[in-house]
Amino acid sequence: MTAAVPTMTTAEIRSAFLKFFEDRGCKLFPSSSLIPDDPSLLLANAGMNQFKQYYQGKKTMHEIGATSCQKCVRTNDIDIIGCDGRHASFFEMLGNFSFGGVSKQQACAWALELSTEVFHLPIERLYFTVFTDDDETYDIWRSLGVEESHISRLGEDDNFWAAGPTGPCGPCSEIYYDMGEDVGCGRPDCAPGCDCDRFLEYWNLVFTQFDRQEDGSMPELPHRNLDTGMGLERMSAIMQGKTSFFDGDIMQGLIKLGEEISGATYVSDDYAGASRSLRIIADHARSVDFMISDGILPGNEGRGYVLRRLLRRAVFHGRLLGVTEPFLARFIDRVNELMGDAYPELLKNVTLVKGIVNAEEERFSTTLDNGRVYLDDALAKLGEGETLDGASAFMLHDTFGFPIDLTVEIAEGAGHTVDIEGFNREMEAQRERARANVKGDAWGTFNDVWTELTDEIAETEFVGYDADRIEDARVVAIVSGGESVAHADAGQEVDVVLDRTPFYAEMGGQVGDSGHIASDACALAVSDTRAHHGLYAHHGVVGEGTISVGDSVLAAIDVDRRELIRRNHTATHLLDAALKQVLGDHVNQAGSQLDDHRLRFDFTHFEAVSTDELARIEDIVNREIFAAKPVVTRVMSIDEARASGAVALFGEKYGDVVRVVSVGEEERPFSRELCGGTHARNTAEIGLFRIVSESSTGSNVRRIEAVTSMGAMKYLEEKERMLSQAASALKCRDDEVVDRVAALQQSLHDANQKLKAALTGGASDAIGSAVDNAQDMGSYKLVIAQLSGLEGAELRNVWDTIRQKVAGPAACVLATVTEKGTPALLAAATDEAVAAGFKAGDVIKAIAPCVDGRGGGRPTMAQAGGKDASGIQAALDAARAQLGL
Ligand code: ALA
Repeated sequence: MTAAVPTMTTAEIRSAFLKFFEDRGCKLFPSSSLIPDDPSLLLANAGMNQFKQYYQGKKTMHEIGATSCQKCVRTNDIDIIGCDGRHASFFEMLGNFSFGGVSKQQACAWALELSTEVFHLPIERLYFTVFTDDDETYDIWRSLGVEESHISRLGEDDNFWAAGPTGPCGPCSEIYYDMGEDVGCGRPDCAPGCDCDRFLEYWNLVFTQFDRQEDGSMPELPHRNLDTGMGLERMSAIMQGKTSFFDGDIMQGLIKLGEEISGATYVSDDYAGASRSLRIIADHARSVDFMISDGILPGNEGRGYVLRRLLRRAVFHGRLLGVTEPFLARFIDRVNELMGDAYPELLKNVTLVKGIVNAEEERFSTTLDNGRVYLDDALAKLGEGETLDGASAFMLHDTFGFPIDLTVEIAEGAGHTVDIEGFNREMEAQRERARANVKGDAWGTFNDVWTELTDEIAETEFVGYDADRIEDARVVAIVSGGESVAHADAGQEVDVVLDRTPFYAEMGGQVGDSGHIASDACALAVSDTRAHHGLYAHHGVVGEGTISVGDSVLAAIDVDRRELIRRNHTATHLLDAALKQVLGDHVNQAGSQLDDHRLRFDFTHFEAVSTDELARIEDIVNREIFAAKPVVTRVMSIDEARASGAVALFGEKYGDVVRVVSVGEEERPFSRELCGGTHARNTAEIGLFRIVSESSTGSNVRRIEAVTSMGAMKYLEEKERMLSQAASALKCRDDEVVDRVAALQQSLHDANQKLKAALTGGASDAIGSAVDNAQDMGSYKLVIAQLSGLEGAELRNVWDTIRQKVAGPAACVLATVTEKGTPALLAAATDEAVAAGFKAGDVIKAIAPCVDGRGGGRPTMAQAGGKDASGIQAALDAARAQLGL
């Protein structure tokens, strides 16, 4: 029995929820990027992430609350995904938040109203849980007409919610939908909180009122807050009369594609085999598309690793379904079709996302093959029916990205089991290590002196687009030794904040300005400028006098340095546009850094850029420079900017008002980018552009370093100087260097050939005939020979050659006269010859005196040098005599 509820599509549910809260005065926020604006958090995993500072009272919201539909990725339960109807790595969370503006009573009333009046869920099917001793919420639900039998109390595990080990947290109350007895476990005590699929939790109302500290204490937060989260996919399943997260419209659209590609059939209540694989692919493909579209690239750590792991699991499950061709890119298209309306960011870089997915899928196929070699090897070492140890299974998982399911399947095929408990122990140990890594103070990152200052003073006004110096800036804060201070004296290292400044703070890859700050009372050389939450910190050491908060000062940047920086910044835009022209639209900026000396530009591309391509890119940029095109900056709304076709940074977040920098004619600019940096006024100022290097910085990302104007001149001067040095060493003119070097190389090559022939040619003939004339000693062959032109050490190589030629038990006594005219002897034997009585050490000891030398060694190898080369013949005769010949 499933519920009789009206059918609504996912899109309808999404907009009904958001509209409900907007109508009640909550401000609509777009989903934040999956890359949170919070270094302590790996991926956005809850609607409340983007409101962290409001909870802590560091920011104030003027509306009574907020509402959003947040894209989330959670991978703590990755192993369970596909095995039930509730877990997924990617999901959309509808949320309603308040920071003191909405009471608990109101929040509960809204939740009930939305559930029953908008979604028309029958109240008889709704169940409510409250935290163990939260009588207040219990009474609220009762006052709203909920029956006592529909309210239960759950403990810390279910009904206390925290985003991390420390920080805002609080008791919560959940709303469950009864999917019907027939989908449940049937146990008499089955109730909300049971592991079965009967009671589906679709809404969690967190009353965020505490701020958990490192020591476990929980002081109250400034306000009694609200953080509610409704799982959109779960709601879709409910509204569409389905029992599983995977059975709503969007997930089914993806599962159908999996069926088409693999030929497998999905069965809704089958949680193993093909149905499980189809769920995993559908879920992981969504994560992969959203993560890459937000600017995450596959890698070996952090977010990159999470992405790689999801992508590989999806590919692997494709293989389990018998799909051998690359298929993930088709899922990217399908996700975009189903979700592109709600998340337009998915549609911006489709070629790039698919390129990355294809490259990674191909690489993983090789990994699978390599893991297979390791696994086959490990299995071959086992006795019949023996178990493969957990450590090897973990090694395959961890190092080769080889999923445990695959290890088990292959091992079983070869008649072995796998120590899953041992594997789980290794996994748990790894999780412990990961937990230890993320512990820290998840909320601590905002608690530094700069956060406090943000609350006290307004953001710095940047006037440096138009002015290089201003006479009347006011010192609004001074930070020294990590603290806010009122004064700083000569010799003190400080960060000075001004109300207005011409200094550009390091941002968007452009280095911070240097310059000086001065007044009658002080002088400060500024070495760098950085922004902390909108406050520009001018860093330096007070040179003279005392600087105080409240001082009126002159602030002047180093203009010459800024000019060079401007040129490098505009050249970076030209390079970006030229790269797209030559290599294709998949090129996206993946990082940049520029200062007064050079520019560095990282971009997505799948192979090395050829010399020919580099030359074309350089040529295009230089033509733009020589054409002396104007560089125009305009301020406009983000929507206007996007409509004008301006290039936005992949994965970057922008405010409502942006600066757009265009190079060339207004109608058809050569380049147009959203950019807050400072630029040349005309491309001609750049003078000249030279690429210095092209390299790789990881999979799918290339790096170009280049120089412009004075930097390019210095670079060329240096090259010229090196050429002149080479010419003078070769005693020729600069323009003859290439021919001269080629001629020298040819003659060196010829000389080497002759030398080789002289040294080894004769020797190898001699070795050949010595082996032909080898003495048969019964159980081994003995070679006695004098060779010319070899060094002592080369006799060992000769022995190797003899051994190969004889291809059986052998021994030798060799002599040579070295280039210096001294004699060298070597005796050597295989183990069989030693066993038959040939002891190299003894032979050498006996014959070395003949050349006025001494030596010895092991029975298998011994050498001697001497002073008298005329005794060589006698030495070889002595050897023959010693061996009874
Ligand atoms: N932040 C709460 C959750 O994720 C609503 O469940």
